[in-house]
Amino acid sequence: MNIGKEFVTSVLCAGAAAGLVFLVSTGLPANVGAASGPEAKDPGVRAGSANAGSPLSSLSADEQEFFTDGQTRFLNFDTVTGTNSGLGPTFNSNSCGSCHAQPAVGGTSPALNPQIAASSDDGATNTLPDFISASSPVREARFPFLVNANGTLSTTPDGSVHDLFTITGRADAPGCEMAQPNFVQAQALNNIIFRIPTPLFGAGLIENIPDATIYANLAANAALKQSLGISGHVNISGNDGTITRFGWKAQNKSVEVFAGEAYNVEMGVTNELFPDERGLPPASCLFNPLPEDSTNFTLSGDQILSDIVEFSTFMRFLAPAVPSTQGIPGNPAAQSIASGQTLFTQIHCTLCHTPSMQTGPSSFTAGLNNQTAALYSDLAVHHMGTGLADNISQGTAGPDEFRTAPLWGLGQRLFFLHDGRATPSNGGLLTAIQDHAGSGSEANGVINLFQGLSAQQQQDLLNFLRSL
Ligand code: HEC
Ligand code: HEC
Repeated sequence: MNIGKEFVTSVLCAGAAAGLVFLVSTGLPANVGAASGPEAKDPGVRAGSANAGSPLSSLSADEQEFFTDGQTRFLNFDTVTGTNSGLGPTFNSNSCGSCHAQPAVGGTSPALNPQIAASSDDGATNTLPDFISASSPVREARFPFLVNANGTLSTTPDGSVHDLFTITGRADAPGCEMAQPNFVQAQALNNIIFRIPTPLFGAGLIENIPDATIYANLAANAALKQSLGISGHVNISGNDGTITRFGWKAQNKSVEVFAGEAYNVEMGVTNELFPDERGLPPASCLFNPLPEDSTNFTLSGDQILSDIVEFSTFMRFLAPAVPSTQGIPGNPAAQSIASGQTLFTQIHCTLCHTPSMQTGPSSFTAGLNNQTAALYSDLAVHHMGTGLADNISQGTAGPDEFRTAPLWGLGQRLFFLHDGRATPSNGGLLTAIQDHAGSGSEANGVINLFQGLSAQQQQDLLNFLRSL
């Protein structure tokens, strides 16, 4: 895992904070006022076809074959020994596709949490932590601080992922005895935070946006950003100094690094990028030579490649989700959606959620080459204040900083924000927007403008987001 312990304020961030404050005309329509009439409501998940999960249309026959093989491996269920071996000793689920499932393979947390089935698969004797239920989002847990030997909380950062489950009890792990982390204690000490899966549609486009483009976009509209309290900075790889961009804190460099990390952290499968078993397991729980996933020198064609390379091929070639104005619950008029899109710009959500950036030249396929990526993110991290802070630092992203979440594909998502706190049962998208506000959040100025919209205007904005 890429867990930096230090928080480094970037030059861009410091420069913006020290700047002058301008009064800005928001260019809002004349009828903006306090909300009135029926309250705005997240319409809910868009119905109809998934409009996501397909490969880029530009793939050659060869590339298509590797994509399909990668997709098959992404959907495989791993076991400790046997054909798809390597699961555990600790894990959060047993298949990439189990967590990245909604609304299609490569997406996010599905309606029915797959971790319940994974916890007891093949006889495993795990206790379900109480933050996992059938209707909860898929969750992984991190402990912000280490716990002292006497059970009190220390001030030394931990920050790492503590997998929910172990392979103890499984028929294919005879003799393994390994306890789950003490989640009851972690909750009693208020020393646990959650992360939910991020979607992978369009990941190859995100990977191929040049660093210079991201820096230039971040530097644009400087006066307006300053007047609203928005700064932001990129997260940086300690290895080569380039911009990292994947994950809730933009902590990871590439889809391949993420694939290697996820295979080991989420499923316990060691690989050529992350070759060591996590959590110092006892010898009784170690069943395989390492790495468990590797290049297959004796095979041919796409079968030569390791799983993590093929997961990456699949993710890199996944087309972005296709927006649609059809199937949004309540059947909003095209006019409402168009007006919501205008308001999204007028109240300056776009200062962080950049509607699009251009990719650079790609050696892979035309679909990644000099394309417009309509991701709705600046790929930078921003202070989101005490309400969202998770007290985890990763790379140059500090305790309350998060990557501007890309909003493409939002129309068919169930759970929002890094810990999935905004759900279908508590307001969904509306809650996600309101929770941007908090002491120290760079979004406070923009959220004030959102709260000043009429109920109809807020509804238009939500309808627009469900068309993405
Ligand atoms: C237990 C559920 C779970 C499983 C299994 C899982 N993931 Fe994820 N995935 C997550 C979570 C949670 C995140 C967000 C992590 C973070 O940012 O801290 C994530 C994020 C990602 C991202 C980052 C995308 C972006 O733009 O931010 C990639 C890439 C990814 N996963 C690939 C994979 C691959 C490949 C596999 C299989 C080896 C896999 N995941 C298995 C839960 C899971
Ligand atoms: C200061 C930058 C900033 C501004 C301004 C901003 N956002 Fe965000 N937005 C973020 C960040 C960062 C996250 C991720 C926060 C987290 O998960 O804790 C996010 C997350 C979201 C999400 C949840 C997406 C997901 O994947 O779960 C939605 C929806 C959203 N923003 C909509 C909006 C709208 C609408 C506006 C304008 C009213 C807006 N945002 C303004 C930075 C911003």
